[in-house]
Amino acid sequence: MLEAAKIIASEETKNGPTTDLNSNVQKGKLKEGKVLQNGSVSAAKEDKMTEDDLVQNATLFLLAGYETTSVMLSFTCYLLAKNQDVQQRLYKEIQQRLQSEVDTSYESVMQMEYLDMVVNESLRFYPPFADSIIREVKEGCEFEGMKFPADSLVIFPVSYMHFDETLWPDPQTFDPERFHPDRKKNIHVSSFLPFGIGPRKCIGTRFALMEAKMAIVRLLL
Ligand code: HEM
Repeated sequence: MLEAAKIIASEETKNGPTTDLNSNVQKGKLKEGKVLQNGSVSAAKEDKMTEDDLVQNATLFLLAGYETTSVMLSFTCYLLAKNQDVQQRLYKEIQQRLQSEVDTSYESVMQMEYLDMVVNESLRFYPPFADSIIREVKEGCEFEGMKFPADSLVIFPVSYMHFDETLWPDPQTFDPERFHPDRKKNIHVSSFLPFGIGPRKCIGTRFALMEAKMAIVRLLL
């Protein structure tokens, strides 16, 4: 992004400042290049970012990356406090796996099977983005008697799906065993959506899981 910003800075010196992203989208000219304040379109190629693109993306990373992970950690702590047996078993796994109290390396933390089960069950119970998976219908269609007109928005109720009895037996029980490696493969890919699904799935999934797992290990120690 910083490299892209340098290109923008040099172009603005030549052509004057760009307008904001919304007005570019409204005028339908975003793909053609930057719309300058005098209304003309610069020769910028499709893949160049405007300064507003940069600011919006930076803001998105802060919003998407901080609150979600902190919510996930808060709820995991709450669930561990309420389920002392799970907490004890997790603490034992951490003690067994770690060579020393400071050995919270990526490798050792990512090898902790029970930790992975606990984190996943916590994300099923309290998905930080409870109903924020939204898709726009490009072409009108019908599915199982429901009509989806073109251009409408579909919001996926993630929490409801995570508590659907047909997908999760005894859904109100906090049970990390659901995510045991032997049982995990039976979970349908579309029924567990804490990070969304498809090409616009959370870009920070792996980082978030690593960060949260390291924090939990250190907290429990
Ligand atoms: C526990 C932590 C997190 C959860 C539960 C979470 C969840 C989500 C969900 C549900 C979406 C929408 C996916 C979809 O529409 O299919 C999303 C998108 C996104 N997340 Fe996360 N997220 C987390 C952490 C992070 C972190 C740490 C970062 C960045 C470092 C991040 C960056 C993003 C970005 C940039 C998008 C938009 C992707 C796009 O529209 O193409 N997230 N996240």
